[in-house]
Amino acid sequence: MKRHLLLLIGVLIFTGGASAQSGELEIFSWWAGDEGPALEALIALYNIHYPQVEVVNATVTGGAGVNFRAVLKTRMLGGNPPDSFQVHAGQELIGTWVIANRMQDLTWLYKEEGWFDVFPQGLIDQLAYEGGIYSVPVNIHRAGVLWYLPDNLAMWGIELPTTLDEFYAVCTTLQSQGVTPLVIGEAWTAIHLWDQVALSVLGADGYEALWTGNLSPASPQMIAVWDAFGRMLDCTNIQQNAAGLSWQQATDVLVAGGAAFNVMGDWVAGYLSTTLGLTAGEDYGWADFPGTQGTFTWLSDTFGLPVGAPNESAAIAWLRLIGSVEGQNIFNPLKGSIPARIDAVAAAPEAYNPYLQYTAQQWASARLVGSMMHGVVANERFMGDFNQVLDIYIQSRSSAGAASAMEAVCIQAGACGY
Ligand code: GAL
Repeated sequence: MKRHLLLLIGVLIFTGGASAQSGELEIFSWWAGDEGPALEALIALYNIHYPQVEVVNATVTGGAGVNFRAVLKTRMLGGNPPDSFQVHAGQELIGTWVIANRMQDLTWLYKEEGWFDVFPQGLIDQLAYEGGIYSVPVNIHRAGVLWYLPDNLAMWGIELPTTLDEFYAVCTTLQSQGVTPLVIGEAWTAIHLWDQVALSVLGADGYEALWTGNLSPASPQMIAVWDAFGRMLDCTNIQQNAAGLSWQQATDVLVAGGAAFNVMGDWVAGYLSTTLGLTAGEDYGWADFPGTQGTFTWLSDTFGLPVGAPNESAAIAWLRLIGSVEGQNIFNPLKGSIPARIDAVAAAPEAYNPYLQYTAQQWASARLVGSMMHGVVANERFMGDFNQVLDIYIQSRSSAGAASAMEAVCIQAGACGY
């Protein structure tokens, strides 16, 4: 009874009269189908606070937003923005929409909500441009995770590889048993892998130097990255069925025992625990990508307020909710991510499984590195064109050729410090 009363008081304080909101609210994201439960829970919570608002959950299917971004661009440029849309912190937000003056400054909302005290400064920096702040982070995902099933590794008689050389050795052992060492899916998942190989070969300083203009994309170090990437690709299903697999389907191959490892962000933890009902730390395990120990490749899903959003006040209420402790604690345990707020896990520790508890500790202690594939360190133009570099490499297997093609793409896109 007492708890219900407290909850009711909480709801009243939160809405503070704002339940007078009505009309529509269109939320636009790529969290469709089995990627949807966390977003749906957040929308259900919004509906409790604002029952008069009709929320339209508009999605474009396709991992990492690869299909979504094209539709978003058409809408934004066509003068038909959604009320709020999913966008990664960093260059995907700043180097694409903010510099084009398409987003509204939310500094006032950060002040009102006290967010300067609860979001890490390093994260706020990735949402800021020329004195304004342009989106609200709902989570932190970790990109460089090696996923596996402990029982299967034991069955195949292999230890967790901690360096690239150990990985290559494990790769040979697994292939001799007819097992795919590393399962990948459609093109973006290969880029996701490339990101981790680059971090492993270059180290955190070198990886950062690449994106800030202090390491040439055509340098010998980068040729070594492409060489290592090639060796990794030889351990995957790239020649078989990779192109036709979504990240979920690639994860299914892992679960079915067709492959030993998957290198993916921790949305895989959301899929394994929330969708497939597996137990973190028992049914599935995780490790750092070989050679990246001590680092944490991060990315953050955020939502902003586009210029010309048709239902602005309902959208602001949405932003307030996703930035609240309550919103972050509904969303993240289901999503496989940790809250962007530093005070949220402590408010509901029991909601976070062992993987997420571990990741929250790592977020606080590891060396943070921004993900390229998920928008932090390179803009959208670069991302689109880097796909072609990947194709060139896969066709030619020329490391020097890929390195110089990458340099050209960096220059054209104004990325990598150019
Ligand atoms: C990432 C996104 C995650 C997850 C993943 C797979 O880019 O940040 O939240 O959705 O793509 O689609």
